[in-house]
Amino acid sequence: MSSTEPQLFPSDFLWGGATAANQIEGAYDVDGKGLSIQDVMPHGITTPPTDGPTPENLKNEAIDFYHRYPEDIALFAEMGFRVFRFSIAWSRIYPNGDDAEPNEAGLAFYDRVLDELERHGIEPLITISHYETPLHLAREYGGWTNRKLIGFYEKYCHTLFTRYGHRVKYWLTFNEINSIIHAPFMSGAIPTPKEQLSPTDLHQAIHHELVASARVTRLAHEMIPGVQIGCMLIAIPVYPLTPDPEDVVAAMHTDRANFAFGDVHCRGEYPGYHLRWLRDNGVELQITDEDRADLRHTVDFVSLSYYMSTCATADPDATAGAGNLMGGVANPTLPASEWGWQIDPQGLRVILNTFWERWGKPLFVVENGLGARDEVTEVDGVATVIDDYRIDYLAAHLRQLRETLVDGVEVLGYTSWGCIDLVSASTAQLSKRYGFIYVDRNDDGSGTGNRLRKKSFGWYRDVIASRGARLG
Ligand code: BG6
Repeated sequence: MSSTEPQLFPSDFLWGGATAANQIEGAYDVDGKGLSIQDVMPHGITTPPTDGPTPENLKNEAIDFYHRYPEDIALFAEMGFRVFRFSIAWSRIYPNGDDAEPNEAGLAFYDRVLDELERHGIEPLITISHYETPLHLAREYGGWTNRKLIGFYEKYCHTLFTRYGHRVKYWLTFNEINSIIHAPFMSGAIPTPKEQLSPTDLHQAIHHELVASARVTRLAHEMIPGVQIGCMLIAIPVYPLTPDPEDVVAAMHTDRANFAFGDVHCRGEYPGYHLRWLRDNGVELQITDEDRADLRHTVDFVSLSYYMSTCATADPDATAGAGNLMGGVANPTLPASEWGWQIDPQGLRVILNTFWERWGKPLFVVENGLGARDEVTEVDGVATVIDDYRIDYLAAHLRQLRETLVDGVEVLGYTSWGCIDLVSASTAQLSKRYGFIYVDRNDDGSGTGNRLRKKSFGWYRDVIASRGARLG
């Protein structure tokens, strides 16, 4: 930055926090809700799905946002949130996914949440599908491998747009759509174990999701004046492990496996490098002329989650590291979180610039944060968590986001992941905490469910109020 004073974030920048229904709501079988794939994933992605719901699944009750949402939204308002990202549980609206009529009690719940947000002047940002496809669609139809899912999803979206379209401007079609490659059950409701899933079935499922995303983008544009529809990608910059050109090419291929999803959403067709990959791997997709025409409906903006970067190498002996669903080879220059996710604030600037230059669409950082164990302590008789590690992580990323804005990249907003503690997607733990708000609930299910303001709560409030000046 050339000036000595750091630039302030734009006055209309959308500051806020992000969550997903299955990770916060609980009430998994209340008011007519059907089962979702999350109800058979008590241990996240680490073990195969169970036959039915089991008592040890922390998501059964999660943090009980279903009943405590007024208190939680009031806390978000206290921090100055301008936007709150949450998802709608598809199985609350269509309990089986293929039902003839929607479930009124499920629709009414989100009316109440939207009322509460409106009361506090907080803009909703809705993820239509966040790793919580109705279980019936997985078991009876094979999840997104089945073309019929496009129609079920479209009907679900039509119901949402009809009911909430007049009061919700920002929508995301599929959370981290590129994660299906790594987590086909959680992301694509595909019951076949990953190791047995053929590339053809996987890529046919991806194609169906891409067509569905494009079709509902068009639907929203037809139904809702001024609507903004975004795709949502896991954003992981991939660095070559060494300057060896073989590693550079390996990084290019890894990047492209992710870029392909954004290319289709933003350019309206499959890129040549991706078609080549399909040919080289013997994948013949069923693509109709109508599909091709549908894909032409491109998104208004690109949203992303950013937690970490990774490395790629051509060395077949290199071992994969831990990370947000994708892993990759560890970068020897970077520290990592307790869960092995490597911390790289500058990677956020790198990937935002890359996406902006590639697609020229406004960007929205809809997830970023540090999963860490917290300890409750007392300060002046008030219970809190002194989470300086989280403040350091977030401050470093927000400084890089500010640099990105100075670079001339258009970023609409920032919603920190897990603004209130929630159940982890990958490990189904509550002890992997991301929030500004601590929730008294533990991995064994014990706890009062009470909410506490962590130190980061006041810090984030000041960052928002000062438009980033507080970051230094
Ligand atoms: C993203 C997901 O992958 O990362 C969230 O969209 C998830 O649902 C978040 O919770 C953090 O991952 P985890 O596994 O720590 O919960």
